[in-house]
Amino acid sequence: MKFFVDTADVAEIRALAALGMVDGVTTNPSLIAKSGRKIADVIAEICAAVPGPVSAEVTATEFDGMMKEGRYLKAIAPNVAVKVPLTVDGLRACKALVGEGAMVNVTLCFSAAQAILAAKAGATFVSPFVGRLDDVGQDGMVLIAEIVEIYGNYPAIGTEILVASIRHPIHLVEAAKLGAHVATLPPSVLRALFNHPLTDKGLAAFLADWAKTGQSIL
Ligand code: G3P
Repeated sequence: MKFFVDTADVAEIRALAALGMVDGVTTNPSLIAKSGRKIADVIAEICAAVPGPVSAEVTATEFDGMMKEGRYLKAIAPNVAVKVPLTVDGLRACKALVGEGAMVNVTLCFSAAQAILAAKAGATFVSPFVGRLDDVGQDGMVLIAEIVEIYGNYPAIGTEILVASIRHPIHLVEAAKLGAHVATLPPSVLRALFNHPLTDKGLAAFLADWAKTGQSIL
C-alpha cells in the first residue's frame, strides 16, 4: 500500500519523508490556504522534496478554466498530479488532461457510481473521502469495499483507489484489508501508526534489564 501525506506543510513532509514512509503528497485548496503560501511555490517545493505524485487541485469549476489551471499546475514539476473535483466538468477535464499526459487525481468522491465515472474518465487516482462520510453517519469503508469490488471486476481499469479524509489508524488498517492502493494520511495519523503502549512498556523493560548487566554493545 502506498502512503501519501495529506498536507501542504513542507516541514512536516520533509520530516516524515525522512522516515521512508512517504510515497507521495496530496494537497487541496484548504491545505494550501492553511500553508499561507502561493500554490506554485509550495507545490514546487513539495515536488522537489518528494519524488512521488504530488496532488495540486484546480479551483476553476468549468472545463476551460480547469484545463488552463491544470496545464499550469502540471508544468510546475513532472510529479504533479492535477486534482479535479468529481463533477461533469471535472471528469471532462480529467479525460482531456490524461490525454495530454498528466496524472489526474479525481477528488471529492462519495459514491461508487462516481468512482465508476472516474475510472471511465481514465483517472490516475480516485479519492473517496471516508472521514466525511463517517461524519454524516455513513460508513466510509463501505464505499471503499464497493469500489475495490467494482474495479476488481474490470482488470483494464488503471485507476488507483486513493483513500482520503482519513481520521485515525483504523481507517488505514481497514483500507489496507480491503486492498486499496493508496492512503493519504494527515501527518498526525501517520505518526499515530507507530504508537502502542505495550511497545513502549516492553522497550523500557528491555532497557532496564540490559542496564543491570553493566554491558554496552559498543
Ligand atoms: O485532501 C483530501 C482529503 O484527504 C481531505 O479530507 O476530510 O480531512 O478535509 P478532510
